[in-house]
Amino acid sequence: MSKLFVMDHPLIAHKISMIRDENTSVKDFRELINEVALLMGYEATKDLALTKTKVKTPLAETDGYVVEKQVALVPILRAGLGMVDALMSLIPAAKVGHIGLYRDHETLQPVEYYCKLPTDIGDRQVLVLDPMLATGGSAAAAIDFVKARGAKKIKLMCIIGAPEGVAVVQKAHPDVDIYVAALDEGLNENGYILPGLGDAGDRIFGTL
Ligand code: PRP
Ligand code: URA
Repeated sequence: MSKLFVMDHPLIAHKISMIRDENTSVKDFRELINEVALLMGYEATKDLALTKTKVKTPLAETDGYVVEKQVALVPILRAGLGMVDALMSLIPAAKVGHIGLYRDHETLQPVEYYCKLPTDIGDRQVLVLDPMLATGGSAAAAIDFVKARGAKKIKLMCIIGAPEGVAVVQKAHPDVDIYVAALDEGLNENGYILPGLGDAGDRIFGTL
C-alpha cells in the first residue's frame, strides 16, 4: 500500500488557510500555491539519491554531495502548472512533462487533451503535480499515462486531498506515495472538495 503524507507544519497550515479564503486575490493565491509547493517539495524529495563529490572551500577540501539529475516533474494541466516553478527552483535540472486533462463536469471523468513526457522518464523520479485530488480520477489517469511511458518511481503531490481521491489513487496505484498539504473532509455532490478552496485552475489563472 502506498503511503500518505499529510504535511504537519505551522507555515503550511497558515498558508493553506489563506489559500482557502475566498477573498484572497489571484496574485496572492498563485504566490501561496507556489510557497506551499516549495515547502512540500522539501518533504517529497527527502529520499533523492546523492553522489559524493569533493568541494574546495577557501580553506580546505571537504566532502560534498550532488543530487543526481533524476527528477521529472509532471504537472496535470492546467492547475498543476501552479506548482512547477517551486519544484524547478528546488531542482533546476528536473525535466518537465505535461499531461492535459480536464474533468467532464457531468460525469466527473477525466478527459485527455495533451501528453508530452520526457523520453527518459523511466530513469527518473517522477513527481506528478496537481493542487487538487478530488475524486482521484485525474491523478489516477495521469499516473496511468506516465506508467505507460515507462515511469517506475512515481510520487503524487497535491495541495489539498479528499479521502475519496486518496483511496482511488491508492487502490489503482499502490506503489505511488501521496503528499498532500491538507487532507479535507470529503466531496460535495458536484465533486468539489469540502471545505477545499474552490476551483484551483480558475483561482490560479483568474478565470472565475
Ligand atoms: C481540477 C484539478 C484536478 C482535477 C481534480 O482540474 O486541477 O486536475 O480537477 O479532480 P478529480 O480528482 O475529481 O479528477 P479541472 O478538471 O477543473 O481542470 P483545469 O485544471 O483545467 O481547471
Ligand atoms: N477541482 C478543483 O479545482 N477543485 C475541487 O474542489 C475539485 C476539483
